[in-house]
Amino acid sequence: MKRNSKNSEALFFKASNLIPGGVNSPVRSFQQVGGRPVYFEKASGAEFVDADGNQYTDYCQSWGPLILGHARLEVVEAVQKAARSGLSFGACHRGEIEFAELVLSAFPGFNRIRVMSSGTEAVMTALRLARGVTGRDLVVKFIGGYHGHSDGMLVKAGSGLATQAVASSHGIPGTIAKTTLVAPLDDEEAVYALFDKFGERIAAVVIEPLPANNGLLIQRNNFLQLLRELSAKHGSLLIFDEVISGFRLHFGAYWQMIDVVPDLFTLGKIIGGGMPVGAVVGTERILDNLAPLGKVYQAGTLSGNPVALAAGRATLEVLLKDSPYEYLEKLGRRFVNRLQESGLPYARAQLLGSIIWLYLDKGEFPRQSSDISNPAMKRFVQIYGGLLERGQYLPPSSYEVLFLSSAHTSENVDILANTLVDQIKEKLS
Ligand SMILES: Cc1ncc(COP(=O)(O)O)c(C=O)c1O
Repeated sequence: MKRNSKNSEALFFKASNLIPGGVNSPVRSFQQVGGRPVYFEKASGAEFVDADGNQYTDYCQSWGPLILGHARLEVVEAVQKAARSGLSFGACHRGEIEFAELVLSAFPGFNRIRVMSSGTEAVMTALRLARGVTGRDLVVKFIGGYHGHSDGMLVKAGSGLATQAVASSHGIPGTIAKTTLVAPLDDEEAVYALFDKFGERIAAVVIEPLPANNGLLIQRNNFLQLLRELSAKHGSLLIFDEVISGFRLHFGAYWQMIDVVPDLFTLGKIIGGGMPVGAVVGTERILDNLAPLGKVYQAGTLSGNPVALAAGRATLEVLLKDSPYEYLEKLGRRFVNRLQESGLPYARAQLLGSIIWLYLDKGEFPRQSSDISNPAMKRFVQIYGGLLERGQYLPPSSYEVLFLSSAHTSENVDILANTLVDQIKEKLS
């Protein structure tokens, strides 16, 4: 039976006359996969119901924050309690200290955190700090890494692979784009070349140590270690963007699992538990350069918002208490095993813990953007609609990863795997 999508379509039509493209963030528009966005009405745990009453299992989970699933009771109750005491103070409150203590407890050796309202702001602030502290102008980023939508991060490679960048969005002055240097992931030569040429001007190297925004491009530890060594040698700061990976794989950051220690790192998503929170973490030597103590400016009307921090704190407390990480890992492994058992060559996914990237192709999983198989990306698009029809809601882009939450069950992932296998058989063979 065809899924009824009358209400979602009417809502999208209405939204499109009010909001550019009908969406408040572009990837929600379903542009890559075709069709129209599904309008969420109500969500709980791993499931949600759309505006037409269809039920889905959600593997997007708000793009990562909801490691406990939608509307987890402890988190909702914490939000309600905080809201009753005031939605925003724009002033100091006890919740900021409790939140800072809880997050920092996961990072011995790091004693400062500045909290803001998004991952974009966190990276922007980390970069400004690096420039302020080093007195240098350039930063290095990697092709395919996403660090939010600040001007200097919306760039792509110019001519040549390791080079000064050009803007990837209109509205960004070339002079700003040029302050970012870009290199391919997993490419030692390119990084050496950048440091050889620009070493004295590089304020920071910024990277998702676990790149998860353009596929899941798991890096070799040696590569990340090299970034550590080169930035130290040249007096640049190493910034790990852990907006996705922070608290996703254990109660802490990804860098602790690979033992490569950054100078600064950013957090977001999970630390807000579904509410808008981002943060920069470092030592007092660097972070105390932020205003009001230092000369690097950062501010926010809603920074440290009591309701948002209550959601983040409740989420982190549940993670500490329940430690769902082993369960999540098993669930991910089970899903991949189910795909493998099908024996279909394209039924494949790259996996780390509870992060899954469907990669519908044979061969090695890529470590850099240019190695991502176009046919694999097209195959995803071919089966997306069939999955949706069968109640499996995945991020509407082949380059985005799926997130498992502690609310997902073995039954859920079996159904996803079976549906995928059916779709591959039906549409791709
Ligand atoms: C690694 C990374 N950094 C930064 C951001 C930007 O965060 P936000 O969307 O909260 O601004 C994202 C968002 O997806 C991200 O994945």
